[in-house]
Amino acid sequence: MRVLGIETSCDETGIALYDTREGLLAHDLYSQIALHSEYGGVVPELASRDHVRKILPLIKDVLARAQTDVSQVEGIAYTAGPGLVGALMVGASVGRSLAYAWKVPAIGVHHMEGHLLAPMLEEQPPEFPFVALLVSGGHTQLVKVGGIGLYQLLGESLDDAAGEAFDKAAKMLDLDYPGGPHVARLAESGTLGRFTFPRPMVDRPGLDFSFSGLKTYTLNTVAEHKGPDGLPDEQTCADIARAFEEAVVSTLVIKCRRALEQTGYPRLVIAGGVSANKRLRAGLEQALRKIGAQVFYARHEFCTDNGAMIAYAGAQRLAAGQTEGLAINVRPRWPL
Ligand code: KG4
Ligand code: ZN
Repeated sequence: MRVLGIETSCDETGIALYDTREGLLAHDLYSQIALHSEYGGVVPELASRDHVRKILPLIKDVLARAQTDVSQVEGIAYTAGPGLVGALMVGASVGRSLAYAWKVPAIGVHHMEGHLLAPMLEEQPPEFPFVALLVSGGHTQLVKVGGIGLYQLLGESLDDAAGEAFDKAAKMLDLDYPGGPHVARLAESGTLGRFTFPRPMVDRPGLDFSFSGLKTYTLNTVAEHKGPDGLPDEQTCADIARAFEEAVVSTLVIKCRRALEQTGYPRLVIAGGVSANKRLRAGLEQALRKIGAQVFYARHEFCTDNGAMIAYAGAQRLAAGQTEGLAINVRPRWPL
């Protein structure tokens, strides 16, 4: 089955064509990062307008690249939530309407299910069951995954998501949005050990997270060391970034290890924007090797938002016979 995937939940317009027999045929992404960066975060109204502008040219381009005529498209999957309501409505309206016009079934996909299944697009995909750590700008969750649609929440952040914490730390250090990659880059020149930030909730049992205390700690450290221009000197900023990243990574590693021990599963999938973080990947690989478990993640471009993961997740559901009616529904808030 050949499925067109559409992702418009936030600030990236992602389009892809996935075939259940042949794999991923083509994908393209238009990122609005430059548009939003001067505001220091995503402006919902601008995001919707830009999705409207880009979506059809991108679909045309992906079909051409995959040498696929519209008559060969057998289904359409669009992100139905969670996300920004206006942005979601663009992808859902266009996707559902094209499916109606092309007389093919359509399905609304959960954005986090897309992330969770993104490693399935790699050459050596994980087998079910596994534990998934979903770490994005809006979510930090540990999920027990038995198969497609078989998800049990093991733990989640009680306040900020890990990506959100990275974005806020970046703002404190006067770095651009989205902050994760910038903090990680700055941390490379930081000295480990100059600052030690708290590892929130690791000494408590359970699998929930909390990152707001770490945010306050970062803010206070920046304030204590700031110079006349309102910021600490360059090396101190790098040292703070390093300590911050280390605290987030080691918190996530401890909880992942605990989730694997609790479930007895030997496989961990990490997905979502923060799974692109190199120190997180390395930290998990090292910790999991010790307990004989393996970590799986998507290639870098499929860690952050993209159309390929939505095409993949939608194709699995459409192939299983699930479809959506003509009344278009989006769910800005939607538990997995
Ligand atoms: O999954 P994603 O693209 O969008 C959401 O669904 O939220 O995740 C975006 C988040 C942002 O908070 C961004 O700062 C973070 O992922 N991120 C990173 C890295 N790359 C992206 N955080 C830490 N290290 C990275 N290398
Ligand atoms: Zn995402």
